[in-house]
Amino acid sequence: MGTIKAALLGFGTVGQGVYEAVRSHRQQLKARLGAEVEIVAVLIKNPYKKRDVGRSVLVTTDFEEILAIPGLEVVFEAIVGEEPGFSYCMKAIEKGCHVITANKVMFAKYGEILLEHAKAHGVYVGYEATTAGGVPVIRTIAHQLQVNDIQRVQAILNGTSNFILTEMREKHLPFEEALAIAQQHGYAEADPGNDIEGKDAFCKLMILSRLVFGGQPDWKEVEVEGINALTLADVEKAEKKGLRYKHIADVYRYGDTLKASVKPVLVPPEHALYAIEGVNNAVTIYGSLIGKITLAGPGAGKFPTASAMIEDLAGGYRRIPQMNAI
Ligand SMILES: NC(=O)c1ccc[n+]([C@@H]2O[C@H](COP(=O)([O-])OP(=O)(O)OC[C@H]3O[C@@H](n4cnc5c(N)ncnc54)[C@H](OP(=O)(O)O)[C@@H]3O)[C@@H](O)[C@H]2O)c1
Repeated sequence: MGTIKAALLGFGTVGQGVYEAVRSHRQQLKARLGAEVEIVAVLIKNPYKKRDVGRSVLVTTDFEEILAIPGLEVVFEAIVGEEPGFSYCMKAIEKGCHVITANKVMFAKYGEILLEHAKAHGVYVGYEATTAGGVPVIRTIAHQLQVNDIQRVQAILNGTSNFILTEMREKHLPFEEALAIAQQHGYAEADPGNDIEGKDAFCKLMILSRLVFGGQPDWKEVEVEGINALTLADVEKAEKKGLRYKHIADVYRYGDTLKASVKPVLVPPEHALYAIEGVNNAVTIYGSLIGKITLAGPGAGKFPTASAMIEDLAGGYRRIPQMNAI
């Protein structure tokens, strides 16, 4: 059957994770797909950074060079922001490539368009890595909860915020000190705004909303509040009452509309998200038949995110007839 040629857009934390995971799990992928997966090209922004890739791998800043690769079948997208990720994914689909993305900012806004475009071109779009990192929530909902009427989804979708809240409570640290520790561990960016102001969790919630309810609430109507206004006194006062602050992303049906919020919420010990600690993410789904289930695990990081992307490949890949892979 030959080789499945794949390209990586972005070679940061996630891109490198996918590159290494494809190599370290070569046999498992081959057993599943019937062919070896080969990363043949990497798209980057800065041509002067040194990259740890094989000599046969094309490293380029020019996306057209990637599109021109004969027999390219899969594009992993792991760059940052709405553009150029969206345009690149659209073009890759038009070329007949399966697309697997980790880019939540892009997918929250353009997911519907990408999925429609992929359908029209007979290719697959995988987006497990956009939401809750390594926790297989997207494919669980898409494949295992197709008949259940899902009434509500409540989730912890930002590991950095959850880590900071855990540190504040366990070590009695003020917010700024807990944030500094998150940055030392590499959990929070130098500019942590997206995490601690709730924007990252908002994007992931919108992706879940489209999947579960077939649509998103009006973005302007969603209450989005980060954890940055919480003080150590707030956290300690809650602890004395046996409660914990959790940064909860919540979406549910309300009559004919969808309601959603992303904000710190006080939860009691019996709440499904009370015990989710550190950088973990968790998603609780309320279904008409299954009742309440919670999926939890690592919400970010090099290999958990790579895991989601190569599992997407394993689950969604099929050879497109006109493909001419060597
Ligand atoms: N990190 C995580 O744990 C995680 C988890 C889930 C999802 N994600 C998502 O995955 C994506 C990648 O995250 P990351 O943490 O890997 O980011 P990162 O470490 O900052 O890496 C970003 C990569 O994208 C490249 N890039 C940026 N803009 C580009 C452009 N215009 N054209 C070509 N390449 C460009 C960068 O090139 P240079 O190397 O030349 O700078 C870099 O290789 C993001 O959308 C993020 O939200 C991340």
